[in-house]
Amino acid sequence: MQDNTQTTHRTTIETLIAQHKDLPGALMPLLHAVQDALGHVPDDVVPQIATALNLSRAEVHGVVTFYHHFRREPAGRAVVQVCRAEACQSCGADDLLAHAERVLGCAAHHTSTDGAFTLEPVFCLGLCASSPAIRIGERLHSRVTPEKFDRLVAASVLAGVPA
Ligand code: FES
Repeated sequence: MQDNTQTTHRTTIETLIAQHKDLPGALMPLLHAVQDALGHVPDDVVPQIATALNLSRAEVHGVVTFYHHFRREPAGRAVVQVCRAEACQSCGADDLLAHAERVLGCAAHHTSTDGAFTLEPVFCLGLCASSPAIRIGERLHSRVTPEKFDRLVAASVLAGVPA
């Protein structure tokens, strides 16, 4: 099973490399495409990407680890994003993120031990006038209080996550 998954990953990466390698500044769009396809950028694809783009492994690894957007591990069944940009910060986003860490039982940029939720701080979800904002799975939520957060998470769990 593991071998099948790795073979599938390798084939996917080969296809994505072929689609992106001749673009100017190919690394970033390629990494985005890998994450979109696999849900994360596995460490074992770094050498393959480095070779294809004529970069060092350290350069590719450095970009993957510099940008929090790129996950190196598979995400939980639902990704919870808490906006930390200015409008949301002024309406309690920091406290909301701390609350989310307690409720989900994982720090920002990590996944709960049961694999249900990955918690990610993000910068602007486009709901600045209705701050603070979060996203659970594909759904956006505005004016999120700690109580509303708890309700949304409970509803996600009842729905079997993803929300
Ligand atoms: S600042 Fe939070 S949604 Fe824009």
